[in-house]
Amino acid sequence: MENKAKGFTYVKTPFNYISFYEDGKWSEGVLREEDTITISSTSTALHYGQEAFEGLKAYRRKDGNINLFRVLDNAKRFQMSCERMMMPKIPYDIFIEAVKMTVLANNEFVPPYGSNSTLYIRPFMIGVGANLGLRPAKKYIFSVVVSPVSSYFEGPLKPVDMITSSIDRAAPHGTGHVKVGGNYAASLYAQVEAREKGYADTIFLDPATHTKIEEVGAANFFGITHEKAYITPKSPSILDSITNRTLRHIAFHMLALDVQECDIDIDALDHIDEAGACGTAAVVTPIGTITHLGHKHQFKYHKEMGPITKELYRIITGIQTGDIPDPSNWITILKV
Ligand code: PLP
Ligand code: COI
Repeated sequence: MENKAKGFTYVKTPFNYISFYEDGKWSEGVLREEDTITISSTSTALHYGQEAFEGLKAYRRKDGNINLFRVLDNAKRFQMSCERMMMPKIPYDIFIEAVKMTVLANNEFVPPYGSNSTLYIRPFMIGVGANLGLRPAKKYIFSVVVSPVSSYFEGPLKPVDMITSSIDRAAPHGTGHVKVGGNYAASLYAQVEAREKGYADTIFLDPATHTKIEEVGAANFFGITHEKAYITPKSPSILDSITNRTLRHIAFHMLALDVQECDIDIDALDHIDEAGACGTAAVVTPIGTITHLGHKHQFKYHKEMGPITKELYRIITGIQTGDIPDPSNWITILKV
């Protein structure tokens, strides 16, 4: 079995975790080799999008052991997503144990230290069982699959071009704040259109007024202003990115920057010198330009990663691999 990352595509790994929910109880989770699931053709996940997922990574340390980054935060967000989808909540300890078991079982597929590749971890829950009418399922599957990955966009250090979307991924009081498949299905049209035009991804605007930056299709948005403040959109319809929370902490506590969650007007970007997309898959990807209604805005640092973005990238990836001390109990070390 080839165990190397191929960009951000699925490389089959030896084991995945699965647990079944029926009659109000979860079965004991097990590791298994096949990565297919047989479910009823009338499962709610298939017809009504009753599902939720998470995304986190395992990082090989210099000493050969493995780091998980902020896994408890993923467990908490997964509960919020499941609750919003009317699905049972997985207790934090079961979520974390499932992630640990799956990563350790696939140790050979955790890329080497210093390779710029990591093991992406995808926990998910789906509503299953025969259920034609619109109502929450009675049965669920919780599973964790993993795959080695390298960069999500063209490369983590080169600024990419993005374009705003005239359609929305989320509604003002909808499901934009939780990590559920429907948000991503709704974003695909704009993403494909953007990629066909040569852009790395699309930037969604706030669904109510279409005047403020909301987030990137697969990541949050941040900027570094001329006055050296870290700014990021404040909105109830974007995902509360764990990477973004980490960058805000680093910016404030380690780089002594002002940090603001605020409105970012798409027509007034001149005060931003450095822009970026941040997320588990995207890590910290600089954005060089944003095209909006035919006008291309070029940030000051559009050819190379700006100096503060570079520092944020260096520090977050250093903490994740264990090279920089963990400032806030974010790391779980798995001994191999
Ligand atoms: N926003 C969206 C829409 C995402 O899909 C992701 C990826 O998970 C993020 C933001 C970043 O979140 P996190 O940093 O928790 O991975
Ligand atoms: C992640 O960064 O974990 C995500 O879920 C983004 C996804 C679209 C690949």
